[in-house]
Amino acid sequence: MCGITGYIGDQDALPLVRTGLQNLEYRGYDSAGIAADTGELSIYKRSGKVKELLSAAPESADARRAIGHTRWSTHGPPTDTNAHPHTNCDGSVAVVHNGIVENYDTIKDELADHTFESDTDTEVIPHLISEYLDDGLTPADAVRETVNRLSGSYAIVVMVAGDDRIYAARNESPLVIGHGDDGMFLASDVTAFLEETQRVTYMQDGDLAVLSATGLNLYRHGEMVDPEIETLDWEADAAEKGGYSHYMLKEIHEQPSALRQTISGRLDVDAGEADLELAIPDEYLQSLDEIQIVACGTSYYAGEYAARLFEELANVRTTVTIASEYAVNDSRDPWRTLGLAVTQSGETADTLSAIRTASDAGMKTMAVTNTLGSSVTRETNESVFIRAGPEIGVAATKTFASQVATLGMLAVAFGRKRGELSRDRAATVLENLRSIPGAIQQVLDRDQQIGAVAEAYADSDSFFFIGRHLGYPVALEGALKLKEISYDHAEGFAAGELKHGPLALVTGHTPVLAVLTEGARPQETQNNVKEVQAREAPVIGATTSDYNRYLDETFSVPDVGVFSPLVANVYWQLFAYYVADLKDRSIDKPRNLAKSVTVE
Ligand code: F6R
Repeated sequence: MCGITGYIGDQDALPLVRTGLQNLEYRGYDSAGIAADTGELSIYKRSGKVKELLSAAPESADARRAIGHTRWSTHGPPTDTNAHPHTNCDGSVAVVHNGIVENYDTIKDELADHTFESDTDTEVIPHLISEYLDDGLTPADAVRETVNRLSGSYAIVVMVAGDDRIYAARNESPLVIGHGDDGMFLASDVTAFLEETQRVTYMQDGDLAVLSATGLNLYRHGEMVDPEIETLDWEADAAEKGGYSHYMLKEIHEQPSALRQTISGRLDVDAGEADLELAIPDEYLQSLDEIQIVACGTSYYAGEYAARLFEELANVRTTVTIASEYAVNDSRDPWRTLGLAVTQSGETADTLSAIRTASDAGMKTMAVTNTLGSSVTRETNESVFIRAGPEIGVAATKTFASQVATLGMLAVAFGRKRGELSRDRAATVLENLRSIPGAIQQVLDRDQQIGAVAEAYADSDSFFFIGRHLGYPVALEGALKLKEISYDHAEGFAAGELKHGPLALVTGHTPVLAVLTEGARPQETQNNVKEVQAREAPVIGATTSDYNRYLDETFSVPDVGVFSPLVANVYWQLFAYYVADLKDRSIDKPRNLAKSVTVE
């Protein structure tokens, strides 16, 4: 996801910010930029790799303050113009920003006499600051007033020409300040400046930081406070992964913040509306007969989850086909059939080929993807972005959660536009969606319990995952995760299917991991739990309510309605992770697998 770096002090700021940007590259990005105080604010921006920016920008500039940014596109494609920093009309205010300004449209309308150059939400910030400066406010007050106007999640860093400070503010997006020997550093994560200092102050939501060459003034809710300084004990290598031993573990833990980004600005819970800025006409959705989802692997399981939601919330027949198996049945009316590609990378060859087949048959097509500007966005009529941020571990984790959440919003939007979903029911589902980040955080806080259970069962012969309804795709996904990274044999089953064959494999050495949450028909699945226990299999259950009586191990899941199985999935992710870690597997790059599969 986007990264921020900055320095103010006695050293030349440009080389330090250049290094900061290189240190942030691991986060993934698609463009980068720098603003340096060279007497005026000099701006350098490039789409593509940091090295392209660095070859376009000077190596040194005798600047005493500079800020840098790596952008991961959400509003507008990755172009030079959309890269940060953004400036006001005369280039005297420069801003870098992580997160999303939800009310940027309203602010832009108010700034009708300003000229905007980019497609970004960020650009309203320097323009608004300059308005307050023109009204006679100090830079610190202008930033404070601007921040008061923003809704959404953000970390912003600001420089004003002719001034000698850097200003920073945050809300639900991290910022950390580094106390150096001869100046102050600022970054979205400590990796950016860890070689320079390990003495840090973490900013909190609502803080305004004013950095000068000599130190930091920190304002909390308007009052100046003494900054708490911590000394880190981190190797630079560990910091690359934010202190986690693997990217996969980091990405599992990023799910609450990724999901906040996914839903940010898209829910109106009281009105029961989800706004995904769809261009697709309402009349088309009202006459829709069928949705045909195409996807591979984990995205296919997200599609299976979504199909159940589309049927339930939008009353539209939905099929899910593994992309490499997709063919169009001539009996369908293409005008009333929507082809929906689910692909986090947007580059999976099988999925691209399937959606082309749908398009060639005359269907309207849509993509749900994590990657702006990817091939699937060019192949389809409409794209919806899941905004999970970059995922580096080969095994998909946070993208699965953000795919399901996005598809859930789509199901609500379709249901409402088709007149199939009441406002009250929609409001309940959206409230559930809003509660997922907190519910997942509660699971992540039980990380130690999961590690202990994984250790107890790591040496089993084989692992079975079972679930019903929305728990079934989660069982399939749980098994896939475990086999991918631990190389152990694992299978996912519809709980009711065990007795039709697979039960023959169940012994005391095949732990069964069962989804027993809301939305997964726990009452019925409980019978299957007893079935396997009668064959001496230990049962590990992820459960929301009263279904733990027979379990050997209980993982408790907060009730978030139809998204409870999605929260249960986080237990399966961590279980897989710890089993694989105990076996010292190559977790981030499992053997034989690639992150983006661009061959059919
Ligand atoms: C599993 C995994 C893969 C991908 C599949 C599709 O952890 O990551 O199964 O889900 O290769 O990839 P995308 O979503 O990029 O189309």
